[in-house]
Parts: sequence; C-alpha cells; structure tokens
Amino acid sequence: MQAHVDFLVSVIGVQYVHTDTEHRQRCASDQTEDLQYMPEVVVQPATTLEVSRIMAYCNEHLLPVTPRGAGTGLSGGALPVKGGVVLDMKRFDKVLHVDKRNFQVTTEPGVITQVLQEQLKAEGLFYPPDPASKGSCFIGGNVSENSGGPRAVKYGVVKDYVLNLEIVLPNGDVMWTGANVLKNATGYNLTQLIVGSEGTLGVITKIVLRLIPAVKHDLLLLVPFRSAVEACEAVNAIFLAGYTPSALEFMERDALEWSMRYVQSTGIQLPPDVAAHLLIEVDGNHMDELYRDAEAIAQIVQRYDIDEVLMADSHEQKQMLWTLRRKVGEAVKSNSVYKEEDTVVPRAELPELLTIIKRLGEEYGFQSVCYGHAGDGNLHVNIVKAGMSDDDWNNKLTEGIRKLFAEVVRLGGTISGEHGIGLVQKDYMDIAFGNTQLQLMQQIKNIFDPKGILNPGKIFK
Ligand code: LAC
Ligand code: ZN
Repeated sequence: MQAHVDFLVSVIGVQYVHTDTEHRQRCASDQTEDLQYMPEVVVQPATTLEVSRIMAYCNEHLLPVTPRGAGTGLSGGALPVKGGVVLDMKRFDKVLHVDKRNFQVTTEPGVITQVLQEQLKAEGLFYPPDPASKGSCFIGGNVSENSGGPRAVKYGVVKDYVLNLEIVLPNGDVMWTGANVLKNATGYNLTQLIVGSEGTLGVITKIVLRLIPAVKHDLLLLVPFRSAVEACEAVNAIFLAGYTPSALEFMERDALEWSMRYVQSTGIQLPPDVAAHLLIEVDGNHMDELYRDAEAIAQIVQRYDIDEVLMADSHEQKQMLWTLRRKVGEAVKSNSVYKEEDTVVPRAELPELLTIIKRLGEEYGFQSVCYGHAGDGNLHVNIVKAGMSDDDWNNKLTEGIRKLFAEVVRLGGTISGEHGIGLVQKDYMDIAFGNTQLQLMQQIKNIFDPKGILNPGKIFK
C-alpha cells in the first residue's frame, strides 16, 4: 500500500491523501443503517485531470475505488465494501457557469444541492429536485442515485434535469456524455445511462443541468385522516379531479409523531384518532389561483373521514411542516435499528400497497413506519427492529421483504424509486428483473469497467 500512497501523494499532494483512522472512519459509513466498511486510503482530488490520473493508476493496479459525495445515501452506494480507495469529491465544490440565457448551469459534483438551488434562485432560476437531505447532500450524489424528493410529483426527478455529464472512466479516459441541448436524438443516451448508475460506470466530474424559471408562490395543506388507507385513496382522487400539486406527501401517524419528538416540535396537534396525514403543496405565480386550488383540494379530501385541514401560508408555518416531513427518516433512525425500503408502485395502487405492507408486518412480525412521496406512488417503508429477535431480524425478515417486493412488482411497481440499489438492495434485484435484463446490465458494467475496480460490490450480487 505504501507505494500506492506515494503515487497518490505525487498526484494530489500529501494534504489530500489520508490514511489516518479518523478520515477512513468518516468514509466507512453513509446514512444506510449502521453499516461500516473501512477504506485503506481516502483521496480528495480537485480536478478532472487528478481523478483521471488516479483512476488510470488504480485500474492498472487493480485497486478498488469508491466515489463518495456527502455520504447521505440510503442504499450504501458510497460504502467501500472492498476497501481500497475512497474518492472523496468534496473539493469539487464550484458552480462553474450559470448560463441564464439558456437556462442551464454547469456545476461540479461536490456542491451541496440546496446551496446550488439558492444561488440559482437569486438569479430567478429554478432547479426543482429536492431530496430530504438537500441541506447536506451533493448534487453529484443526486445524479448518481437519480434522486427524487417531494417536488418530483410535479417537476420530475434528477434525470429530467441532467443534460450532459463529464465523466472519468475507470481507465482514466475523460469524456462528455452528450450535449448541452434540450433535445438530443444523437446516438445512444449515455447521459441517462450514467444518471442513477450509482458510481459504478464512471466518476462524474462536471454536470450540466437544465433549469426552469423560478416559481413565485406556494401554499401548503396538512390533512389529517382517520384511516391511512383512505389517505392513500385521496391521493389519486386529487389527480383525477385535475390537480397536480407541487408536493403530495404521506406520513403515517408514527412518522409524524416521531419526527415531532425528534425536532422537539409542538407546532401541531395530533388528535388520538388520526392515523395518517397528507401534506399537499400547490405552487404557481398567482396567489389567488393557489388559494382556489387549495380550496378545491380541501373539498376533495372532505369526501374522506378527516379531521380539520390546516392551511399554512406563513413562511414559518410552512417551514415547520417541511422540517417535520424532512426529518422523518432521521427520526426513525434515531429511534431504533431499522431497514429502509423504497417501494414504488403506479400511483393508484398505493392503498393496496399500504394494506399489503401491514398484512405482511403481521405475518412476519415486523413493525413498519411508512411515509413518502404518495403523489409518485413512492412509499418509504421503514422497518424497525423494536422487539424482534436477532434471528428473526436477520432471517425471517429477509423473507418478508422478498414477499413485499414480489407484491410491489405484482402491482406493477419496482423495488427502489429514488434511493438506489447500492449494497443493501442488490440481493433483491432478481425480483425486479429476469436473467436477460440482469445479464445485459452486467455486460454494460463490464464494458465501462472491465477490471471491476469502480465501486465494486454494488447493484449486482
Ligand atoms: C425522504 C427520504 C428518506 O423522503 O427519501 O425523507
Ligand atoms: Zn424520499
């Protein structure tokens, strides 16, 4: 290893090559469960050329390389499961060019998503995708995982905004995947192949995103339902009535209650008979229209057994509700050992999905806290260990999860909507795909990375 470290130092300087326990420990985990895999060395390059030289060297010497963003991932994509080198991208932290005339931005991957969004907003530009971790995650990680977030229901996910990428291949070659254009029918779509490939095909060093004009106003409704399944039914009713909210989030009672406790909020009352909430946002440029839409949506949900609808129009109230929603994941994590599933079904099947989850919970003895992007049919199922024995947790539960994923696929859905496969879902890929698709994907991986050095141990068993 010393010879390798000497080479890495010669490329990027001694202050950016770390073999101490503290740095390695920091890159040993992400936000996925409590998993830890120590790398041997952490490197922090700052230029494409440096990444290229590092990759070429590691490829030649068969050293595993795991690219890392901010470490907020939920499927273990950034975990260096085979040790080796962690490519910490935090010094790629510059927004390179805001092209206001063309509504585009070119950025490095290590920029925090919210920082990028705020810089763009100040110029009247809007990059919508807003994962719960937007205050700390990197845009490069978002592209690698094809992240979503609450606004996806109206504005789409990360893939809908990526126009072009500069990547470094495992052998050190540098290339752009496409062109900075809104339409592109030129050859295979390499850009979209890289989006969501979880750092297994190339290292992203520059990102060109499409932007839209900033939207001026929004309004937020919190609707308490006495039946969680009815809350899921109401989701589709809103769309069928002709409305597309800019967010349509579902939270089971436990999700909201745990989040309130976690952030020590007393901002909302939780009547004892409320089983779930929908958090519904509408946005646009005319406040009067938004009030009309919000009124109409409030009428639609009246068809169900609900408590009083809260309409939040002050900045503070909206902020409070969004904080509670965004903190659910962390709140559950702080509460118990847990596994997070990221199920997604066609939206109208959501009530059936929730019913199945609860039935399987009874059958396999697990407690689940469900929440997520109901407008997208994307339900996060947090399975908490609670009173489960270690044996049931490690064995019986796996069977239960396989059963759940099989049901998801039967409903026309799939096993991850926005968190990726990474490490923790790879054993279930055979439920989503047959041999033909899996072999094709594996062949694509082999073309990009014939020696298997880039983020090994991910996506495929
Ligand atoms: C959320 C993350 C966990 O929606 O995807 O909160
Ligand atoms: Zn989510």
